[in-house]
Amino acid sequence: AEKGLKDYYKAYFPVGVAVSPQGLKGAEGELIKQQFNSITPENAMKMGPIHPEENRYFWKDADEIVQFAQDHHLRVRGHNLLWHEQTPRWLFKNADGSTVSKDVLLQRLHDHIDTVVKRYKGKIYAWDVVNEAISDNPQEFLRDSEWYKICGEDFIAKAFEYAHAADPSAVLFYNDYNTERPEKRDRIIKLLKKLKAAKVPIDAVGLQGHWSLQEPTEPELRAALDEYKALGLKIQITELDVSIYPWEKERRARCPDESDAFTPELEQKQAAQYKMFFKVFRDYKNVLTGVTFWNISDKYTWLDTYPVPGRKNYPLLFDQNQKPKKAFYEVVKF
Ligand code: G3I
Repeated sequence: AEKGLKDYYKAYFPVGVAVSPQGLKGAEGELIKQQFNSITPENAMKMGPIHPEENRYFWKDADEIVQFAQDHHLRVRGHNLLWHEQTPRWLFKNADGSTVSKDVLLQRLHDHIDTVVKRYKGKIYAWDVVNEAISDNPQEFLRDSEWYKICGEDFIAKAFEYAHAADPSAVLFYNDYNTERPEKRDRIIKLLKKLKAAKVPIDAVGLQGHWSLQEPTEPELRAALDEYKALGLKIQITELDVSIYPWEKERRARCPDESDAFTPELEQKQAAQYKMFFKVFRDYKNVLTGVTFWNISDKYTWLDTYPVPGRKNYPLLFDQNQKPKKAFYEVVKF
């Protein structure tokens, strides 16, 4: 078989990819087996999809992904146990439609985490326990989610405790985006320090890595890795992709003169950006225990629908026909 990313990076870290059950088949399925040694369910294990009603779980999609991993000797990172998005409708409500109390919500959280983590014990080596709890507003600390409104800060520590009790050997992550932007980074560090000081069973921090041709810069990325490293936590890049459009708000709308074309110039810039990222990753191999891409190839990426629906994006290492792009060759040339 041809050499894949996982082979080039054997001495560094596992290289993973986010998948759906559909993505396990056909040419993309072949690409997974050839290139990656870790997978993450893109949506199938989130609370909404996997636990649609209080007493009903939907295991089919998640089970298929875990079985594929078992069949092909891939690791699985579980994603995720607690998030403010993709939560099921029943979760925050009593039968009469009123909002649940903190006790009831924590009991539900416990039952959910206990059931899901135990089902895949020994098959899932790491979990994103809490996803994106820090606010995007620099004036705020935690995001003003239903979790926060009902429980205050406690839900975070509780989620880690429940996960650790369900599988003491699972590696437990706090996972977030824009983790390199100084103002958000500082608040994430503050949260992680609090959790460590309170002896909460947290092992690692996930830097999602939804990046662009503009950011993060190399100094920003190194500064962030140094700060997270200093906390004594392991680090993974958990959702890597490099958008060809800038992420700043004013550029989110489609510009009148903008086409969706992936020009040779953009491909070149993207390759240089990926080259820089992986050089930095290799430099941090002692704390960086994994790099996971968010989708398989440019055939399908969540960035085709966000933030501008219908604007095609090309953020990955493989093109729409699963062929390696310039960026791939830069990543494996060292
Ligand atoms: O499954 C339903 C389908 O039945 C329905 O017909 C269709 C119509 O809208 O929606 C389908 O669900 C969509 C789901 O993806 C599966 O395709 C949801 O609408 C859509 O919102 C959901 O998007 C996912 C998003 O998380 C949820 O907010 C993306 O695929 C997924 O890539 C994205 O992943 C997140 C990470 O979990 C956390 N970090 C950020 C990252 C990107 O947003």
